[in-house]
Amino acid sequence: MSIRNEIFSISKVNVEGYTYKQIKILGIRLRFKITTSVPYKYKVNSRYLLTKTKVSAFHLDSDVNALYNYFLNSTDKSVDKMHHYFHIYNKHFERFKNKPVNILEIGVCKGGSLKMWKSYFGEQANVYGVDIDAECKQYEDLQNGIHVIIADQSNRDDLRNIIKKLPKIDIVIDDGGHTTNQQITTFDEIYDKISDDGVYLVEDLHTNYWKDFIDSKHTFIEYAKDHIDALNAWFFHSDDRYRDITNKEKMKMPIFTNITNSIHFYNSIIVFEKEKVCIPFEERR
Ligand SMILES: C[S@@+](CC[C@H](N)C(=O)[O-])C[C@H]1O[C@@H](n2cnc3c(N)ncnc32)[C@H](O)[C@@H]1O
Repeated sequence: MSIRNEIFSISKVNVEGYTYKQIKILGIRLRFKITTSVPYKYKVNSRYLLTKTKVSAFHLDSDVNALYNYFLNSTDKSVDKMHHYFHIYNKHFERFKNKPVNILEIGVCKGGSLKMWKSYFGEQANVYGVDIDAECKQYEDLQNGIHVIIADQSNRDDLRNIIKKLPKIDIVIDDGGHTTNQQITTFDEIYDKISDDGVYLVEDLHTNYWKDFIDSKHTFIEYAKDHIDALNAWFFHSDDRYRDITNKEKMKMPIFTNITNSIHFYNSIIVFEKEKVCIPFEERR
């Protein structure tokens, strides 16, 4: 070690799952926490959380490009998205393009994403932005089908009023306050009320691993994992309510089971695809 290093050194150290920037001056050690560790079962090396996303060629197929290019070409710093989201958006939203679709995005901020959705979905689309910040009203552009509603996504009355007043929503994008309580409350109030073939997308779910954003018993990711079981409720032999597997018509299913086709888990995003589910039956042919 050089004399200079003995007098002064900067390094990164990992102590009990937390990463610290360590500064040593004349033997005195100062540590500054630079990341938050994963608070659940899986202790991931925090270096993973710092790894920069690389958008692979797979993410940049020509269909995604329209949306991704819009983002890349935005110069006014009004849209705030992670690069790898664009592939996921296109995969789940493409079938609604150029149709009379109603999109609800929670979290308006500078209004740029509302304009981006309008440009992607086309002339017939109506985009509804919801934000708690009254300043966001300035981004309303009714002539272009962009509406802004001032409301709090953690307030159930606000959410009920929104759903009551708006036409049937086809796509929800939750990019609001990102606390677990906000994400769960919003899903709980809105999911079963959107179109039968709608899509519900929650983004920036990395916040579920950051303690400042955890304000409910379970994170949204944990809550969504429980819904995997609800998808399969038809087969809960051990539960009395579902025991009669030979007479599924009489079984009382959770609403979620009857209206959900699939759940898709991605890095920082979960997508729920809706569908009126038929009673599953098996036959040998
Ligand atoms: C990440 S920004 C939205 C970014 C925008 N969707 C985009 O892609 O550019 C989050 C927004 O959520 C709003 N927000 C925070 N808490 C909220 C709440 N309880 N209800 C509604 N909006 C909230 C903030 O005011 C902020 O404008």
